[in-house]
Amino acid sequence: MSGWAEWVWTDGRLIRGAEATLSVFDRGFLLGDGLFETLRASQGEPVHLAAHLRRLRAGAEVLRIRLPWSDQTLTAAIRELLTANELSEAAVRLTLSRGVGPPGPSIPGTISPTIVLAVRPFTGYPGRWYEPGAEAILCRVVKNERSPLCAVKSTSYLEHILARDEAVRRGAEEALLLNTRGRLVEASSANLFLVIDGCLCTPDLASGCLPGVTRAVVLTVAREHGHETREEALLPEALDRAEEAFLTNSLLGVAPLVRVDGRPVGSGRPGLLTQELAEGYRLSWGRSDP
Ligand SMILES: Cc1ncc(COP(=O)(O)O)c(C=O)c1O
Repeated sequence: MSGWAEWVWTDGRLIRGAEATLSVFDRGFLLGDGLFETLRASQGEPVHLAAHLRRLRAGAEVLRIRLPWSDQTLTAAIRELLTANELSEAAVRLTLSRGVGPPGPSIPGTISPTIVLAVRPFTGYPGRWYEPGAEAILCRVVKNERSPLCAVKSTSYLEHILARDEAVRRGAEEALLLNTRGRLVEASSANLFLVIDGCLCTPDLASGCLPGVTRAVVLTVAREHGHETREEALLPEALDRAEEAFLTNSLLGVAPLVRVDGRPVGSGRPGLLTQELAEGYRLSWGRSDP
């Protein structure tokens, strides 16, 4: 069971997922030469879609992948897909690859990109992520904060897969990655926030984290609620000083991070600011993007 709903959208039309085919020479398959976005739909509406499409376009520009579909076309396609699959609460996945081409690293001149939109029923992560909260490890995978790929949600996801696998094998939900300078970056599929002396702190983009859509919304909500925020380089020792910590991504929302490497963060319980921002984030869904 794939978990995906019956219909997918590819190259401008709806087709049953079981009947959809991709070339064995697609560079997304051969080389991980592509991009993706994952977002949530609630009450039939994609959440913070404009920000996801903006990141997709920025990533396509970095990788020099053509994206010949307008935001209007992609938005309509997602709505069409949700309707065809009779889903209103869903996870939406948009995958763009460079397309069919030679396997070497050179970027071919004229090739048509491949796009696939798929959805699956989704109402949230398993409950333990929110109560008692997630546990993480500091993992061995090191992120190169100087790579141009840091800002790109690339289909080459192997570092994150290895990091998550290490976490699961050590009995934790998530893995925290450090960069080459030993600073905290993010989790395998989420951004990281700490509350230190009442201030909401998160690794800055120069630390090498993905510019998360949820991260940006949470920073905006926190400032609107009158909280001090800082984006800065953070050493792992900051985890010992933190009163609270939490993780964010588009499907997870805001989830408390209560233990790292077996040690409690703060009280080891979901914190008050975490709960306030989880609620504030939830209320942002109908709003325009930051
Ligand atoms: C490595 C990584 N960092 C951060 C995030 C959070 O990004 P967003 O809030 O845009 O979902 C993700 C999302 O899956 C991710 O894969």
